[in-house]
Parts: sequence; C-alpha cells; structure tokens
Amino acid sequence: MPENHFGEAVAASYDDDSADLFQPAAVDPVVDFLADLAGSGAALELGIGTGRIALPLARRGIPVHGIDLSEAMVARLRAKPGAEQIDVTIGDFATTTVEGRFAVAYLVFNTIENLTSQDQQVACFQNVADHLEPGGCFVIEVEVPQLQRLPPGETVRAFALTPTHLGFDEFDVANQGLISHHYSVVDGKFELLSMPFRYVWPSELDLMARLAGMTLRERWAGWRREPFTSDSPKHVSVWEKPARD
Ligand SMILES: C[S@@+](CC[C@H](N)C(=O)[O-])C[C@H]1O[C@@H](n2cnc3c(N)ncnc32)[C@H](O)[C@@H]1O
Repeated sequence: MPENHFGEAVAASYDDDSADLFQPAAVDPVVDFLADLAGSGAALELGIGTGRIALPLARRGIPVHGIDLSEAMVARLRAKPGAEQIDVTIGDFATTTVEGRFAVAYLVFNTIENLTSQDQQVACFQNVADHLEPGGCFVIEVEVPQLQRLPPGETVRAFALTPTHLGFDEFDVANQGLISHHYSVVDGKFELLSMPFRYVWPSELDLMARLAGMTLRERWAGWRREPFTSDSPKHVSVWEKPARD
C-alpha cells in the first residue's frame, strides 16, 4: 500500500484549506461535466476524499462508489449528509477492485500525481479500464507540469507567499518528481508538511490510456470546456473504452 499523506492532521483542515474549491462556482461545472458522461450509469471516484465532488454528484441521482487510502479523509465524508448514498472502499486506487461496472471513472484535483511512480500511474489506468463498462469514460483533471516556470539550473519554485503560508515546489527533473513543501502557521509557529508527487505530461497520459485499451476523446483546459492551448496550466481529459470489450 502506498504511504498515506492524508492522515488526521491533513483531513482535519482539508475542507477549510480548499474552501474555494468547495464553492458552487468550482463544484457545479465538474458535476455537470461528470453527470453528462454518467448518463443513467454509475460513477467511480478515485481518491474520493471528503466527498467534495462525490456528494453533489450523488445528489443528482448518480450512484457513486469511491476508493481512498485515507480513513481520516473518508471519516469526514461519512459524517456529511448524503454520505449514506455513497459506497467507499479503503485501498490504493491503482490496484483496488470494487464490485460493479461504471459509465465514468474520475480522478480530479491533480490526484493522479499522488501516484509517485510511472508503474503506479500505468496500473491505475488499467485498473480503471477494468472497471468501466464498454464505451465508458475515464476523466482526469491535472496540472500541466510547470517546468516552463523553472529557470535552467533551478529546482525550487515558490507558489505561495503569505504571512501564514509559504509554499515551495521542489523539482527532481530527471525523475519527474515533485515535492510540495507547505510551511503553515499553527499556534503561532510554522509547521512543515511535504507531499511527494510524480508530475505527468498529457501525451504520457494518452499513452497510459492506450496501454489500457482506451483512446483520447476530449481534452479541455477546464470543466467548462475551455479550449486547451500551449498556455493552459491544467487540463481535463477524457479517455474512452471501446464500445465493445
Ligand atoms: C487532493 S485529495 C482530493 C480529494 C477529492 N477528490 C477532492 O477533489 O476534494 C486526494 C485524495 O486522494 C487520496 N489518495 C491519494 N493517493 C491515493 C491512492 N494511491 N489510493 C487511494 N487514495 C489515494 C487521498 O487520501 C486524498 O483523499
């Protein structure tokens, strides 16, 4: 099982720390997009966390199943109204299997990068393909690697600089590794939280999809289907499983 970086301390403040992403302006376009793809089928969320997307999607009448490593994150989800509609399996979403076949599987908010090796990311695509019904779709929302912002020879880039939060990304370019360091003020003192990621290119994701028998159907810069360009900082991509197994 991969290391769990979303333990009690992270889970306790997750919703407050990501408050903007819980607002309807952020959530509604995601839910519209996923509900369209789900149609009358079911949805599988990898890294369901505290239910930011799963709960409103389930409120639209779509059966949702979630997978997550973190008991602490899932405990927050289970404490929310509507959570009784959602089945959750504790496990690694690269390998964990669940009952049923799904019209759509989704992995949002850069969570594919929580898998810190190429092998794990490849396994995740295969695991998703195995859970999709014929014609089903896999949706990923993830940043475009921010290497153009890294001057030659530098390995660290600041992404947050406020009196209560300092954030630095540390790149290991040779290995597509990234560690996000967060220094946050807690009880008047800075505390450090460092989280490892593996950044991944859009074309590499397309190849992982192809290895798992899926093909790219759509790529957008955001959930409102904004055009994806060379300047887009993130993408929302949809791969499709063939209509026949
Ligand atoms: C950034 S949070 C996103 C949560 C939720 N999807 C959202 O949009 O708010 C990432 C979640 O993925 C889970 N996670 C990370 N790596 C995982 C893995 N290998 N298997 C299962 N869950 C994982 C974490 O525990 C956490 O709940």
